[in-house]
Amino acid sequence: MKKILVTGGTGFIGSHTVVELQQEGYEVIIVDNFSNSSIDVLDNITRITGIKPAFEEFDLSDRIKTADFFRRNKDIEGIIHFAAFKAVGESMEKPIEYYQNNVVSLLNILENMKAYGIRDMVFSSSCTVYGQPDELPVTEQAPIKQAWSPYGNTKQMCEEILSFTTSALPIRTIALRYFNPIGAHESALIGELPLGVPNNLVPFITQTAIGLRKVLSVFGDDYNTPDGTAIRDYIHVVDIAKAHVVAIQRMIGEKGKSDLEIFNLGTGNGSSVLEVIQSFERVSGEKLNYQIKPRRPGDVEKVWADTRFANEELGWKAELGMDEMMASAWKWEKALASKK
Ligand code: UFG
Repeated sequence: MKKILVTGGTGFIGSHTVVELQQEGYEVIIVDNFSNSSIDVLDNITRITGIKPAFEEFDLSDRIKTADFFRRNKDIEGIIHFAAFKAVGESMEKPIEYYQNNVVSLLNILENMKAYGIRDMVFSSSCTVYGQPDELPVTEQAPIKQAWSPYGNTKQMCEEILSFTTSALPIRTIALRYFNPIGAHESALIGELPLGVPNNLVPFITQTAIGLRKVLSVFGDDYNTPDGTAIRDYIHVVDIAKAHVVAIQRMIGEKGKSDLEIFNLGTGNGSSVLEVIQSFERVSGEKLNYQIKPRRPGDVEKVWADTRFANEELGWKAELGMDEMMASAWKWEKALASKK
């Protein structure tokens, strides 16, 4: 059985990916420091798959602990590196923490890949690297725009580090640029954990509907889009998780064509904020309380993925649509409420 290290494996995308990996027959070891997740996730993964993943708790930006971990786990055959901070707004206030956590942890992992001859890594990147693209749908060849947040800058820097490192060393990586991952596992045992007031649209919608928040603010209805609200490419987290399994299989199976490959992970469909709300109301039967508010600083107007390269070259395609995303997000919110 091939052993895969999943960093950040108790987080939102990480936990869904661990489930898919185990179901495909991989042995998983998770490293996480629970900076944005909970230890219960390990039990919930086990409830879904029947297999308890191996687990170690430490911070991957700690060079000594990371080296010690790899010294004890020389049989790791591939790495999926999720562990990172991800809140755009927070990164503006805590830039050093973002660079420290996101960039240094990548360097520590690469140092040990080199030391122990671990060749393959999948890296979590983001469509944030495109900023507001000049052409839509956006392809992987679109120019990288100047980052406006430390968070976005860490993703750009990490991609550049991977580009130079993979050219110089026998290391191969696939960087997956996520669009907007939402939804939850159909079991409602894992999903996005709410810590504080959500920044992202879908957790805010479900928390408003369940009564945790009074009203959803729709940030801007004066964009140059059909209904005036901003457009994103929302994608089901389980589709994202499956892409990671395909990516790791591609590298282990020697199918990669270059040292660093980059793929967009989106559905190719853009949805406006109002369309997301309508889908939520349709599948939940709930009426959502929302108000139009001014634009949120830093938001782009519209972005959705050109998925042809991922579909054709990676051989992966998102399968779940907006209503399935919203139904699973709502089921998860209700499951969280019933545990309180
Ligand atoms: N929105 C609202 N009200 C809210 C929250 C969001 O109207 O309460 C709107 C936003 O203005 C935006 C859309 O819903 O138009 C989606 O917002 P999210 O915060 O859910 O997602 P973003 O597209 O802003 O952010 C995502 C990722 C980031 C990444 C960014 C890159 O969460 O990690 O894409 O553009 F950096």
